[in-house]
Amino acid sequence: MNGPVLNLRVAETDREEFRQAVLDGLSVTPRAIPAKFLYDERGSALFDEICELPEYYLTRTETAILKRHAADIGRRAGPGCALIEFGSGSSVKSRLLIEALPELALYAPIDISREHLDTTAARLRRDYPRLNVLPVCADFMKPVLPIESGGRRLGFFPGSTVGNLTPSEATVFLRHTRELLGDDGALVLGVDLKKDPQRLHDAYNDAAGVTAAFTLNLLRRLNRELHATFDLAAFAHEAFYDEAEGRIEIYFRSLKKQSVMVAGQRFDFAAGERVHTEYSYKYDTADLSALAASGGFRVAETWTDPERLFAVVYLESIA
Ligand code: TRP
Repeated sequence: MNGPVLNLRVAETDREEFRQAVLDGLSVTPRAIPAKFLYDERGSALFDEICELPEYYLTRTETAILKRHAADIGRRAGPGCALIEFGSGSSVKSRLLIEALPELALYAPIDISREHLDTTAARLRRDYPRLNVLPVCADFMKPVLPIESGGRRLGFFPGSTVGNLTPSEATVFLRHTRELLGDDGALVLGVDLKKDPQRLHDAYNDAAGVTAAFTLNLLRRLNRELHATFDLAAFAHEAFYDEAEGRIEIYFRSLKKQSVMVAGQRFDFAAGERVHTEYSYKYDTADLSALAASGGFRVAETWTDPERLFAVVYLESIA
């Protein structure tokens, strides 16, 4: 059933890199653990659950925009494209593009979660038997090997994942991507827009506690994979909107003074001390044009929903 998976940077996602990144992140002030480690198998499944939450408007809004404008995207991109997705997860939204792109030559999903990628690729091959599916297991922040394809390369970076990068990281990502996609390349980018802070706050503090479970799953993973001794009941998820920075900040917070062992090293936490896990930057149209330009792209078209919650933009490489 499962076809080949291009495993480009196994070393990047292996245990040693994980161990080193976590020990480094817990040794600096303020403490931080890179968000990509949230997405182990259980983390990826919890994230899929977040996408269905009533408070989490992002996924359903973006999906509606893509549904309404998939044909426009297909017209702009033209026939015979190669579609390359960065951080593909379950590839639910990609299906909308796969179905709208005429004579699609290749679909290459890039994701850090191997299990997710395997399952997703198997489903896509089953549902689109004539489509060439080339899953790539890699950290999309590292430049990936050029993917062999004729035709235009169309990148797809949905889910406001670009918002999980700092603006300077986002610029670096866009420049790499601009190189990968080439002079006639284009990128379909999904971004969450600046809006009422309460609405933003609620999206990352759902009543059912799924987002909290997602954050605390990182501690569970540390316990399992790095022989850590985190007591999940002694830490809490924390997320808030910083209006001046235009970003949601996500942490886990120590509920008391305590010591935790991680990979043989002891870390002391003060009561109330937090460890940063993620930013989620929000953009407005001016921020977006500036970001695109910094990465070598121009905004060719912007689609949004009636409430202007979310935007899907079509970026073209500046030659
Ligand atoms: N790209 C998503 C976002 O910024 C990622 C995300 C959603 C997330 N909910 C989260 C990350 C909770 C960490 C914790 O909205």
